[in-house]
Amino acid sequence: MSFDRSIKIAPSILASDFANFGAECAAVEAQGADWIHVDVMDGHFVPNITFGAATCAAIRPHIKGIMDVHLMISPVDAYIEDFARAGADIITAHVEAGPHIHRTLQAIRASGAKAGVALNPGTPASAVAELLDLADLVCVMTVNPGFGGQKFIDMSKKIMSLREMIGDRPIHIEIDGGVDPVTAPLVARAGADVLVAGSAVFRGGSVSDPAPYGKNIRAIREATAGTYV
Ligand code: DX5
Ligand code: ZN
Repeated sequence: MSFDRSIKIAPSILASDFANFGAECAAVEAQGADWIHVDVMDGHFVPNITFGAATCAAIRPHIKGIMDVHLMISPVDAYIEDFARAGADIITAHVEAGPHIHRTLQAIRASGAKAGVALNPGTPASAVAELLDLADLVCVMTVNPGFGGQKFIDMSKKIMSLREMIGDRPIHIEIDGGVDPVTAPLVARAGADVLVAGSAVFRGGSVSDPAPYGKNIRAIREATAGTYV
């Protein structure tokens, strides 16, 4: 996985047809998705349950590019190997998921996956100050995690301070929650390069009519034109 800071759109399959995950991943990738974002929820760290490593393993053959797994679970460490074996390219854990995020990121890297650390809206950028040598991605939540289709919470100041802290380290800044053509330029200008979007990508389309997926992805990408950092 080579590093560059160009804008990447990562549709979240949380907003896709749960009866057709494999076909949805193939369709949205064919329509221009750069990464596939997989939202794992345990009903404990967040008030919702979605899917686990078995689902990641099942969709892996249908994804040509990056499978970006967002673990909204606690505890995390016992499950890292399962997600790595399932084919996750990036495994992101929440800094709020437990007392030993440093060890969790070490374990993710040891599994062979890239390590991501996620910050809920209430957690300051300073929470990752001691983690930048262990992280390949910092995910800034712009909604309180657990559901798709929520209202965007502006975290521009946090994104800018993260961008400052990261400097020229090869660390992606990913934005997750409420990203659409209106909010995308805000976060791109602040320094983000990976934009997760669920409802704004999957709305209006289906596996049998995927063209809206491409239109929605292009609308988000075009909205960020000229904001390249
Ligand atoms: C929320 C998830 C997000 C969510 C994004 O807990 O982490 O990835 O699915 O969905 P939208 O883009 O609809 O806000
Ligand atoms: Zn997510």
